[in-house]
Parts: sequence; structure tokens; C-alpha cells
Amino acid sequence: MIGVFDSGVGGLTVLRALRERLPSADIVYFGDTKNAPYGTRSREELTELTIAGFKLLQEHGAERIVSACNSVSASLAVSLFDALSIAPQALIEMVGPTVAYFKGSTARLVLCATPATISSEIYQNAFRMIGKDIECVAIKELAGAIERGAEEQEIERIIREAFVQVSLKKDDILILACTHYPLALAAFQKVLGDVPLFDPASVVADRARRQFWPQEAGDSTLRFLISKDSETFRALAKQLFAGEKYSLEVLT
Ligand code: DGL
Repeated sequence: MIGVFDSGVGGLTVLRALRERLPSADIVYFGDTKNAPYGTRSREELTELTIAGFKLLQEHGAERIVSACNSVSASLAVSLFDALSIAPQALIEMVGPTVAYFKGSTARLVLCATPATISSEIYQNAFRMIGKDIECVAIKELAGAIERGAEEQEIERIIREAFVQVSLKKDDILILACTHYPLALAAFQKVLGDVPLFDPASVVADRARRQFWPQEAGDSTLRFLISKDSETFRALAKQLFAGEKYSLEVLT
């Protein structure tokens, strides 16, 4: 069974890509809606929430984990593997596959993410290792607004304000390094015009297919666990996994 972890609805964008590539895998998804958004939390808080989230997934039968939350990637220290008895090969996070995809690319990269992701410098350091400097844009309120199902206009305003000082050219690539952001794709396109947007979900799911297949062939079970009831979560799960049979439990 694969466990997928995020603060809330963002990881559903990664789950969608996983379902396409590993259709029969059994998946348990934990959205920590009670503690979302994660992107404005401290490193210490994120470490605690990450450990708790992974443990919960393991208790529910997950043997391999996809950490579908960029904001917690900096907390995935080497010690975590021992603390939770997870083999490095059994964990896939967002940063590695995303950076690997751009090896050799000559495009100018701009990356937007939560304040926690940007201030951890995890992407900046990883891109430096492949000889690339990136421009970073932290968007403080966006994941939270998506999480509470804010109106389109508010989402557009938040994006517009975040990019006011950034000049994007049409040959640049904008990396959506928060798994919530692809849920606001239309707003990004409306505000920023025809700049190519990159959603890392596909390369993360490709990595999962390479590392977890065929060991994870199963019966297509899909189980959602959330730590607080959320209308947005229920609506998005229904919309994105319309034809699928799944269960949803609110943990108490
Ligand atoms: N979706 C997560 C990420 O990729 C967390 C966003 C948040 O909860 O602030 O960073």
C-alpha cells in the first residue's frame, strides 16, 4: 500500500498523476486539514507534523510513501529514515524528481512556493548542484486560500500581488512548487499570460512508477483520511476522482 501525505487538498494533484501511472496500486491518502496550511509554519512544527503524518500512514498500512507536500521536504532529514524505519527507496518527495527533470535545461527557471519551502532553500540548493540559479517567489496566502475554497477573484488577486515585482518572459518556465497551486492553474494563466507552467506531479508519479512498480500492484483501493472535516476536500475528491470508488474518513 502506498501512503500519500499532504497538509490537505494539494496532494490530490499528485494522487491524480499516481492513479494514472499506477492504476491498480492501493493508496491511503492523509490530508492534515486540521493543521493546514503548512507553508507558513516553522521548521520545528513541520518536522513534528511530518513525523506524525508518516506514522499515521504507516499505522494504516502504508509501506511506501509519496510525500506530496513541498513544504515538508526540508524536514525529511536522513535521521527520519531510521526514526520511522523507512528505507530511502520507499520514500518519494517532491524536490528530487523536480530538479532532476531540469538537468541540462537552458531555460530560465522561476519557482513559486510557500514561504516555508522558499526559506528552507531546499530548491535553491538542489538547483545549484546542477549548476542552475533560480528565481524564487514565495506566495504567502495562496495554499490557505485554495484550502478553504476561496473565490476565483481572491485567488487571482493573491497571485497578481505576489508577481508584481517579477518580470516573466515567455521563454521562462514557472515551476509550481506547491502541490496546491495546480488547483489554481486557470488563475495563474489568467494573471501571468502564456508563460509555461510546470506541475511536478507528473515527474513525481513517474518516479513512483519506476520505484514502486510492480511491487505495488493491488486492487485499486483508495482511502482518504483527513484530520478535520472539509467541504473543499470532499468536493475536490469527488471532482478529481469522479469515476472511482473511494472511502473518506474524518479522524477524531
Ligand atoms: N501542498 C503543500 C506544498 O506543496 C503545502 C501547502 C500548505 O499547506 O501551505 O507545499
